[in-house]
Amino acid sequence: MKRRDFINWVGLGLIASSLPVAIAACSSQTPSASRDWQTVGTSAELDKTGQLLVKNSPVGPVLVVGTSKGANLTAVNPTCTHAGCTVAWKAEAKKFACPCHGSEYGSDGKVLKGPAPNPLTTYTAKIEGNSVVVKPT
Ligand code: FES
Repeated sequence: MKRRDFINWVGLGLIASSLPVAIAACSSQTPSASRDWQTVGTSAELDKTGQLLVKNSPVGPVLVVGTSKGANLTAVNPTCTHAGCTVAWKAEAKKFACPCHGSEYGSDGKVLKGPAPNPLTTYTAKIEGNSVVVKPT
């Protein structure tokens, strides 16, 4: 085998052997998986208190408010945009409040009172069977 043939043969082998790895790397970075509905808990868990806080859900931290019998569920990333504390839902006032520096957000995630600079990230939420599922809005 000539030297040039050998180099071409080795080069082709390297490309062929790394192709599956490259395809896997590309396909794992497609955003489609995170844009789908993701299960974050059960309707029984939500119905216990009317709130479901999941810090490590497939979409990241999520706080779902409502019950499986109610028409509208509210879901947000409960990480305060000021300094990262976890906001709590105040049912009587229908708003999210941060315990650290007093920021308040509406049920739509919009800032009602600072120092939070940005709204909370919101999700669309629904009940599917016995599961609570969310997806980015
Ligand atoms: S971390 Fe929420 S107001 Fe500062």
